[in-house]
Amino acid sequence: MGDLATLLRQALDEVTASTTLAALDEVRVRWLGKKGAFTEQLKALGALPAADRPAVGARINEAKQQFEAAVESTREALAGAAVEAELAAGRIDVSLPGRGEARGGIHPVTRARLRIERIFRDSGFEVATGPEIEDDFHNFEALNIPADHPARAMHDTFYFPDGRLLRTHTSPVQIRELRKGRLPLAMIMPGRVYRVDYDMTHSPMFHQVEGLVVDEGVNFANLKAVLQGFLRAFFEKDLRMRLRPSYFPFTEPSAEVDMSCVFCDGAGCRVCKHTGWLEIAGCGMVHPNVFAAAGVDAQRWTGYAFGMGIERLAMLRYGVSDLRLFYESDLRFLRQFGAA
Ligand code: DAH
Repeated sequence: MGDLATLLRQALDEVTASTTLAALDEVRVRWLGKKGAFTEQLKALGALPAADRPAVGARINEAKQQFEAAVESTREALAGAAVEAELAAGRIDVSLPGRGEARGGIHPVTRARLRIERIFRDSGFEVATGPEIEDDFHNFEALNIPADHPARAMHDTFYFPDGRLLRTHTSPVQIRELRKGRLPLAMIMPGRVYRVDYDMTHSPMFHQVEGLVVDEGVNFANLKAVLQGFLRAFFEKDLRMRLRPSYFPFTEPSAEVDMSCVFCDGAGCRVCKHTGWLEIAGCGMVHPNVFAAAGVDAQRWTGYAFGMGIERLAMLRYGVSDLRLFYESDLRFLRQFGAA
């Protein structure tokens, strides 16, 4: 057993000479593996006199443990050095200025819609939506616009081959909500609408918001007060409002809503074409035929409705002069609108 000390010194020298973790592992396996020198020594114990075995065995185990400890500490040293090298190679300069964050904005049409929704919610209205692909019944028939009605010509409808269509206004949502049979109700219904039309002031897709209030004893004065309250809240101006008699198939009586020009306060300017007034909505009392189509008892319930264009409201509120700016995704334009 005189060579145990020599073996150990040799093994420790090999550990010290290892410069990589892989090399170190190879040394460990070579000495401790099945054919390793320490293992061979232990196997040879059987040939010794029984009395000598415990002492010799203990010395072998002690040498083995010394070797294992050396491997472990070298492994730690090598791993630490690897991390150090990595850090030294890739320096992080914490004093460099950051890259900054790109901040998104809310699209002005969305912003106007959210503003409209908030104002109406604050006065007790609910917000409802309906499908953009509609059928003839909801978009026309139930709104008192039968097949031969001249009002259809004004709608320039996009049709699908199966007869369905892209809704031309948000009024069909009135029918869908009324047919649920939950009365009384007060709601607004914002959303996209579509018409075959494209120029400076018309887009094939635009947004409307519909209003509908049905209860017992609802009247035209209620309608006028709600619209005036909304317009003043939306524009944050003490503006005047007037109703002009008009015609819509789904309301009777019907009116067109004008407000005093938000740019010249009624004095007359380019925006209001020197009239002092801006057309802003259509409205009226729900027609009995509409109630009949939706299964509502017109003897008991009365209601008013209104509809307006969200782009128009947004243009007047934010001072945008060309409708097309809303759809061109020009970041220089969109960046000017922050959070709602
Ligand atoms: N649906 C009409 C349109 O698109 C707007 C409208 C007018 C809606 C009068 C209404 C209303 O609810 O009462 O031109």
